[in-house]
Amino acid sequence: MEKRIVTVENLIKKAIQVMKKSYSPYSHFAVGAALLSKSGKVYVGTNVENASYGLSICAERSAVVSAVSAGDRAFDCIVVATNTNPPSSPCGACRQFLSEFGDFPVILVNPQGDRMDTTVDGLLPYSFRLNRSE
Ligand code: THU
Repeated sequence: MEKRIVTVENLIKKAIQVMKKSYSPYSHFAVGAALLSKSGKVYVGTNVENASYGLSICAERSAVVSAVSAGDRAFDCIVVATNTNPPSSPCGACRQFLSEFGDFPVILVNPQGDRMDTTVDGLLPYSFRLNRSE
């Protein structure tokens, strides 16, 4: 099958769309993530909270789990959307979780059109990674 070209604009739209699906009755803080794999697929994720607060999962990690579950482990870009100004950046746990899969662009956006471009290594320099060839 032909590989579809996914633009950054497509990813931004998807991140904002999935942010609206956030299950965050405790924090009322909605986050959406759209992760583009090197195979050209887009995996989305939102934050899902729980009455046992510590079990809540962030949007970025939801997207990565979805991609890895579908067999994708190599990524070109992730867009993270929040309703804040400036757009919020990933928590420490998500930075570490993303860094497992290498260094790639991270774009932070909000629905007002603000945008900040960074990278996984920019967010988490000298990150802990296992040295394995897999
Ligand atoms: N959250 C994310 O989804 N991603 C982050 O990087 C930071 C925090 C979520 C977790 C929780 O549901 C809410 O935002 C408030 O912390």
